[in-house]
Amino acid sequence: MPDIKKEVEKLRQDINFHNYRYYVLDSPVISDAEYDKLMRRLEELEAKHPELITLDSPTQRVGAKPLEAFGTITHTIPMLSLNNAFSAEEAKEFDERVKKLLSLHPPINTSGAGSALSRKGRGIEEIEYVAEPKIDGLAIELVYEDGRFTAGSTRGDGYTGEDVTQNLKTIKSIPMRLLNPPFVPPLKKGGMGGFSPPSRLEVRGEVFLPLKAFEKINKQREKTGEPLFANPRNAAAGSLRQLDPKITASRPLDIFCYGTGVIEGVKFKTHWETLETLKLFGLKTNPLIKKCNGIESVLNYHKEMEKNRDNLPYEVDGIVIKVNDLELQGRLGVITRSPRWALAYKFKPREAATKIRGIEIGVGRTGALTPVAVMEPVEVGGVTIERATLHNQDEIDRKDVRVGDTVVVARAGDVIPEVVMVIKEKRAGNEKPFKIPDKCPLCNSKVERIGAIHYCTGGLSCPAQVKETIKHFVSKRAMDIEGLGDKHIEQFVDDGLIKDVADLYYLKRDELLKLERWAEKSADNLIDAIKKSKTPTLPRLIYGMGIRQVGEHMAHVLAEEFGSIEAIMQADKERLLSVHDIGPETAEGIYDFFQEPHNLKVIEKLKKADVLFPEMKKVSGKLAGKIFLFTGAMSSFSRDEAKDLVEKHGGKTTSSIS
Ligand code: IVH
Repeated sequence: MPDIKKEVEKLRQDINFHNYRYYVLDSPVISDAEYDKLMRRLEELEAKHPELITLDSPTQRVGAKPLEAFGTITHTIPMLSLNNAFSAEEAKEFDERVKKLLSLHPPINTSGAGSALSRKGRGIEEIEYVAEPKIDGLAIELVYEDGRFTAGSTRGDGYTGEDVTQNLKTIKSIPMRLLNPPFVPPLKKGGMGGFSPPSRLEVRGEVFLPLKAFEKINKQREKTGEPLFANPRNAAAGSLRQLDPKITASRPLDIFCYGTGVIEGVKFKTHWETLETLKLFGLKTNPLIKKCNGIESVLNYHKEMEKNRDNLPYEVDGIVIKVNDLELQGRLGVITRSPRWALAYKFKPREAATKIRGIEIGVGRTGALTPVAVMEPVEVGGVTIERATLHNQDEIDRKDVRVGDTVVVARAGDVIPEVVMVIKEKRAGNEKPFKIPDKCPLCNSKVERIGAIHYCTGGLSCPAQVKETIKHFVSKRAMDIEGLGDKHIEQFVDDGLIKDVADLYYLKRDELLKLERWAEKSADNLIDAIKKSKTPTLPRLIYGMGIRQVGEHMAHVLAEEFGSIEAIMQADKERLLSVHDIGPETAEGIYDFFQEPHNLKVIEKLKKADVLFPEMKKVSGKLAGKIFLFTGAMSSFSRDEAKDLVEKHGGKTTSSIS
C-alpha cells in the first residue's frame, strides 16, 4: 500500500508538470500517447483506492492556471473534458453504462421522455447518439450578445480561460454577427421578418490549423531557424495565443463548433437540433457529424473515420460520442469534470517510440541537406515507418537527438514522419551525437550553411541534385512522362545514361535494353512516353524547369505575363518585379536561373531534340477572356487534360466559383 501511495503521488507530480508544459506553456515534453498512459494509470489506481483521491489530483481538475499576459474570462458553465476509450470494448462499456444509468433513473414524468430511444420491455434498447470527429485543436468559447460576437476565450483550466477575443476575430470562419435565419424551430419570430438570435449565446468549438498550413508554417520556420511546432495542435495553440493579433491573422486558423454554454431565450431538445441551429446562425460545424442509432452504428462510424483520416485536411485523433437527447444528458449528469453522456473514442496514436539506427543525409533539388533518421520499423497510426525527418542541424541540437537514441516519432495526414523528441531516460550512454558533414556525402563538394539550412555547393555536378531535378521535370504536374519512376531515374543517372533533363530525349532503345531489368516492351513504352511529352503547355514547361520559388501557380503567372520562355529569359529583375505576384526572392530566383550557363545549355539541347517551347498569346485563342470550371467526371479527358486544352486556347480555369 505505501508503494501504491508513492506511485500515485509520483504520477500526480509528473502529470501536473506535463499539464503545465502542455496547457500553460504549449510546449509538451512528452507525447500525447505517453501522457494518456500516465493519466490512465493514475485513474486506474484511484479507482481501486478511492481513499487516495485528493482534491488536487489531476484527475479532479482539467488543466493548470493560464498565463498572465492575457486577461482572463470565467466560463459561466465550466468547460468539461471527456473520458477516453481506446477500444470498441471500452466504447461498448460506455453504452452499457449509459443504458444502465438511464433505466436505473427513470424520468419523474414519464410522458415527455423516451423520444430518442426505443424501448423494449423494461430495459432500454438503443440509445441515439451523435458521433463527431474529434478535432485535434484547442477548445474555445465564443460569446454572442444579441447576435454580436463580444468575447472569446480559451478553455484554460475549465473554469477560467484566457481572453483571446482579438485573436479569434482574425479567424474568418467565426462570424462577427450571427445571421437572422428565416426559420429556427425553437425561436420566436423577431422583427424584420427573420428570427433574432437569443440575447446571449455561448458557443463552444475547436480551433485548429489545417495540415497544409501547418506544413507551410514549419517550412518557413525551418528556413528562418525558428523552433518547429511538434504537431498541428501546438501550432494552432501557439498561433491563437499570440499577444500580437497580426501574427494570429497570418495563420489560417479555422474552427468547428460542437456545443454551447449558456443560452438565454431558447431551449433545444436534442444535441442534433443545437448543431443544426448553430449552422443556421452562420456558425461552422463539421460536415462529417452523424446521427447514429445504437452503439454498433457508432463503432462503424469510428471505423470509417479512422480509415479516412489521412484524407482529411485537418488532424482528427478520434471520434466524440454524445447522447443526443438533452433531457437524457441531464439525467446522466457529470462526474469529476467529465459528462457521463459523452465519450472520446480515440484512434490509434499517431506517435510511437522506436530506436534510431543511424542518420542519413538526403540531398534535395536545391542542394539542401536534410538529416533523416533511419529507425527500427514501427507502426504509427496504422502505417509502418522506418525513416523520419530531423529537419536540420538546429532541430537535432534543440532536441539533442543522437544515434542509438530511443525517440518518439509522429506522422499527421500524409506529412513526412518526423522525430518529435528523445526519451532521455532510455539512454545507455553510448549514443552518438550527430553533425551534418562539411562535405556533401554524395559528391564531396563543400557544404555551405545559409540560415538554418546546409547546402551542397556542387549544383548539377552533384548526382543527388541532378536526380531530384529530373524527377521534378518528369513528374505528373510537369512534363508528365508516364512510367518513368524515381528508381529508373536513379538507375539512368548512376549508369551515366543521362546527366540532365534534356538527355532524356536522346535516350535510345538499345541503350535501355543493355540495362538490368529492361525488356523490349518496357523500353518501347518509355521511349513512347518520352516522345509524347514533347508538346507541353507553357506553364508545365516552366514549372518543370525547377526554377527556385516557381511553383505551379507562379508558372501560370509567368506564362500569362510573358507568353514564352524567350520573353522570360530576356526580362531583367525590374521587369520581373513589375509583375503582380512576383516578389524580390522569386524575381531573383528566376533571373539567376536564366543567367546560369548550364541551364541555357539544357534549354538549347531540349530545343534541338524538338521539345516544343510553346507560345501563349495574351489575347489570341478562341477561349480568350473565358473562364472554365470543371466538375464531376469527364468521359473523354482527364481533368488535367481538359485544363491544358482550355489554356492552350487562351482560356482560364478555376476550381471554385466566387
Ligand atoms: S465536446 C463535454 N466535441 O476534446 C464535452 N470536444 O477531451 C466537451 N474536442 O476539450 C467537449 N472535437 O478540445 C467535443 N467534436 C468535439 C470535439 C471535442 C475536439 C476536444 C475539445 C475538448 C476535448 C475533450
